[in-house]
Amino acid sequence: MSHLDYWHEKWKASDTPGFHRPVLVPAIEKLQHQIIPEDKSMAIFIPLCGKALEIKHFIDLGCKIIGLEFSEKAIYLLSEENQFGLQESAIEGFGKVFQNAEKSIQIYCGDLFEFSKDTLVENCEIGAVIDKGSFVAIDPEMREKYLQVMASFVESPKCRYMMCLYDHDMGRGPPHVVQLEYACVKLGQFGFKMIDYFKGEPFFGLSEKRREEMRVRGATTFTENTYFFVKN
Ligand SMILES: C[S@@+](CC[C@H](N)C(=O)[O-])C[C@H]1O[C@@H](n2cnc3c(N)ncnc32)[C@H](O)[C@@H]1O
Repeated sequence: MSHLDYWHEKWKASDTPGFHRPVLVPAIEKLQHQIIPEDKSMAIFIPLCGKALEIKHFIDLGCKIIGLEFSEKAIYLLSEENQFGLQESAIEGFGKVFQNAEKSIQIYCGDLFEFSKDTLVENCEIGAVIDKGSFVAIDPEMREKYLQVMASFVESPKCRYMMCLYDHDMGRGPPHVVQLEYACVKLGQFGFKMIDYFKGEPFFGLSEKRREEMRVRGATTFTENTYFFVKN
């Protein structure tokens, strides 16, 4: 099974796969004033976005969103459930982009490992990255490649980075357990330093179905922690 087949099967099986949480990351409310770019021409990049609620949350706050998602079904549901009216267009050599009429939402449909800033249909600087269920979803041996892709998106000295990491004892992912020290070193290489963190509540925001799935996989604990990084 390729790294994309796994996710394709999840979206094929359900309109709301277990990893989709029906609530925002709790830290968002505390961090949003720092996440929202002061320069309104800058976008928030949400890699591996699925139909995450944070997309609508930041659109309602007047932000511009660039998302990246492999599953066309996920993007279709994102558009339908939020009445975004996303329209697709093809991008040669990559896949597709789905945009609303105002072009404040651009969701790129394709493989992250074939994506770069050159894929964007219009030149745009990234003012913040929301990395939730993204870095932790990637197979450990692909992490360096993931960081290479992220490099072109975090070039701006104004860029901020919110990363969610998990503590769990399921033995295997996804979501994979990524050590905070590793994330700090890797984001440190882009010039980021961590300035804030929020410890989550065990099993917060998960449906009973998802909790049961995790118990079956051996989880006695599952906590999402949020870390916030800035440059100087
Ligand atoms: C764990 S889910 C997280 C979704 C979303 N961030 C959220 O919090 O609800 C990971 C998502 O990334 C997508 N995905 C996984 N690997 C990908 C890749 N290489 N390129 C693009 N999308 C990918 C999957 O289809 C899935 O929707």
